Amino acid sequence: MPDRFEILHKDLAGRIGRLSTPHGTIETPGLMPVVNPHLHLIPPKELKEMGADIIITNSYIIHEDAKLKEHALEKGLHDLIGFHGPIMTDSGAFQLSVYGSVEVLPLEILEFQFAIHSDICVPLDIPTPPDVSRERAESELQETEKRLTEAADLERPALLAGPIQGSTFPDLRKKAAAFLRDKNFDVYPVGGVVPLMESYRFRNLVEVVTSAKKGLGSGAPVHLFGAGHPMLFALAAAMGCDLFDSAAYALFARQGRYLTVQGTWKLDEMKYLPCSCPICQSHTLKELMQSPEKIKLLAMHNLYVSLQEMKLVKQCIWEGSLWELLESRCRSHPRMLDGYKRLCAESEWLERLDLASKSTMFYLSPESASRPESIRYSHRIDRIVLSGNVLITDDREADVSGFDHVLHFKPPFGPYPSELAETYPFNAEVPEEPDEAALARAAKNIKRLKEANPSARFSFKLNCRLPDNIGER
Ligand code: GUN
Ligand code: ZN
Repeated sequence: MPDRFEILHKDLAGRIGRLSTPHGTIETPGLMPVVNPHLHLIPPKELKEMGADIIITNSYIIHEDAKLKEHALEKGLHDLIGFHGPIMTDSGAFQLSVYGSVEVLPLEILEFQFAIHSDICVPLDIPTPPDVSRERAESELQETEKRLTEAADLERPALLAGPIQGSTFPDLRKKAAAFLRDKNFDVYPVGGVVPLMESYRFRNLVEVVTSAKKGLGSGAPVHLFGAGHPMLFALAAAMGCDLFDSAAYALFARQGRYLTVQGTWKLDEMKYLPCSCPICQSHTLKELMQSPEKIKLLAMHNLYVSLQEMKLVKQCIWEGSLWELLESRCRSHPRMLDGYKRLCAESEWLERLDLASKSTMFYLSPESASRPESIRYSHRIDRIVLSGNVLITDDREADVSGFDHVLHFKPPFGPYPSELAETYPFNAEVPEEPDEAALARAAKNIKRLKEANPSARFSFKLNCRLPDNIGER
């Protein structure tokens, strides 16, 4: 079978891809609105018109309802739901995590998903919550792996997902992912993370997802189970998550909450509708509040905002500016900033996945010093061969007579050959006043350059001050 997942563009660990399913090909990163088979807050036909190319529903709910089950078995899932593009089905594992048990055998619910023509089927994994004992995380993971191995051995008429569990143990997550990679699943959801997202533990989320990604390798499509808040999409996509499911658009609407990429507002505490989606365009706040269809309309706004953010994430990946989007999205909440900083700690990993050339970078915060461009240059600066008298300067008007080499100076890179000033990444837009992180990295690079060229004599003409007076030594 040809590869079902094809990567078209990359930025950081993120990518634009194409995933082929029996009911059509979708572009990733993609958002799957969660559809409740019992009641359609937004009719699935409208979901498609709003821009949802793929949806997700729960096969366990269908299986447990005699009428829905019969319809699905006779006429298929797509007829039951009324959506004729790709549909992913979950297995009831989430019910398992909430209620402690489910009334179905693992293979039974998987065979049921095959029988109703689901496009992406999920075996019954065990979603281990965060912070459990290592013993529990290990034994539940063992059971999940046993079930997934059985599932992978079946002849499959559709795509098969292999959920990665392991609670908040990074090494277990990595091991679980490596185990599943060898089983050739079609999609790899990172599971058991809903409690982390609900409690804004984005640092742990980044740890768990990057660990799973390291075990999995970069070629496999990854689904982040339960990630439906648009504030999260840029961060998750930057780590290499390709599929998202949103129950949030509906859950938040039922609570009277209005989603934005910067966070959530309560509708009854708002004064304006700061959005141009069709709902916010055609209603005043008062009309929205008083509408008998308030929940549906709010759900539609929430979904429009989410789908729009996904498009923005794709545009940024395509352009190579996903880091710039992260810079702003991760400043919507202090805990998002924690997650962002945790991702910066994975800068060596990101550097290996990131493209070596893209559009002009904007240095926007101390975190930008951890960008792949900056890390990459630190790795390579010792390739510069110098001899004789070397001037390092941030003054383009400086008198360079008597020097054998002139290097320009721009934090966070530090010294770089002046003839590269107009090329990526040295054409970066940086603040006039470099921050400590940029200066520290520049200073480190000076040190490396000197160590690589012990016979050269270095002089500095710098307007900015370096830490430890490194320039003068
Ligand atoms: N929905 C949210 N989290 C999970 C998970 O870990 N596994 C499955 N199957 N569904 C989920
Ligand atoms: Zn709106």
